[in-house]
Amino acid sequence: MNARPIIIDTDPGQDDAIAILTALASPELDVLGITCVAGNVPLALTVKNARMLCELAGKPDQPVYVGCSRPMVRTLVTAEHVHGKTGLDGPELPEPTMALADEHAVDFIVDTLRNHPEPVTLCPVGPLTNIAMAIVKDPSIVENIREIVLMGGAWKEGGNITPAAEFNIYVDPHAAHTVFTCGAPIVAHSLDVTHLALMTDEWIESIRALGTAVGVASAEMLAFYERFDEEKYGSNGGPLHDPNVIAYLLEPELYSGKHVAVTIETGSEQTMGQTTVDWWNVTDVEANCLWISGVDADGFYRVLSERLGRYPLT
Ligand code: BDR
Ligand code: CA
Repeated sequence: MNARPIIIDTDPGQDDAIAILTALASPELDVLGITCVAGNVPLALTVKNARMLCELAGKPDQPVYVGCSRPMVRTLVTAEHVHGKTGLDGPELPEPTMALADEHAVDFIVDTLRNHPEPVTLCPVGPLTNIAMAIVKDPSIVENIREIVLMGGAWKEGGNITPAAEFNIYVDPHAAHTVFTCGAPIVAHSLDVTHLALMTDEWIESIRALGTAVGVASAEMLAFYERFDEEKYGSNGGPLHDPNVIAYLLEPELYSGKHVAVTIETGSEQTMGQTTVDWWNVTDVEANCLWISGVDADGFYRVLSERLGRYPLT
């Protein structure tokens, strides 16, 4: 079976990091490029973090692209309160030395979708600016998108950056609107599902116990990252949002959901970036999205453990 071609669009972020490390350990996936966007921290840091992660994974030749430094319309909002000043607080990782790809991320997405011989899956796990800009630059690329499997949105769970909105959609709601109306098949992993699969301290320690550079760095990242959600929600363990996108590609049977019409709020400051989900089909608007609402949490963490466990002792 041919590896499935994907592009990971990301703003690392500790949970982005686990998504990237999981994908890079999965031969079923051909990571054509990692495209960086401003989100959790400013662009210069998300680019640096992506390169550090590729080097940690032993993949310094993985192409990494610099994308958009701000949302399409609004001012950038970042999340250092969650991810720390660097975006990847926790481990001490060496300064990256690998080269960056020359092309801009938006041009890379456009060129890849124009030219790749088979449809490409887009995996956005940050604000949707790069993906929307690519669609605006050349709307015909939508024809060669197999699926957009994204992390973003919140409906039943409520928001995490405002009472109404999830961070990735809130940061660039105009980009999210562009993506959700583009016509490509969309699979949305929102807070509704990521909050059903919480990390435990035991799981983090099992990753540390792998004893590899990847295992130890991942555990250090996750221990830092988890403390924010534990304090916020009073739970024993926080959600690990972005890796759900990769786990879905590897084992879609772990997930369940419903095809629904999703719209993005761009008009009201109070509910900016809210994903309105027509769960009961009260509008007759055509479904544009598979809204994931169920997950086998044990299966999700099994997939991550198994993939992170593939990295060698160094
Ligand atoms: C999303 O926001 C970011 O902070 C995380 O990396 C994730 O992509 C969760 O709301
Ligand atoms: Ca992210």
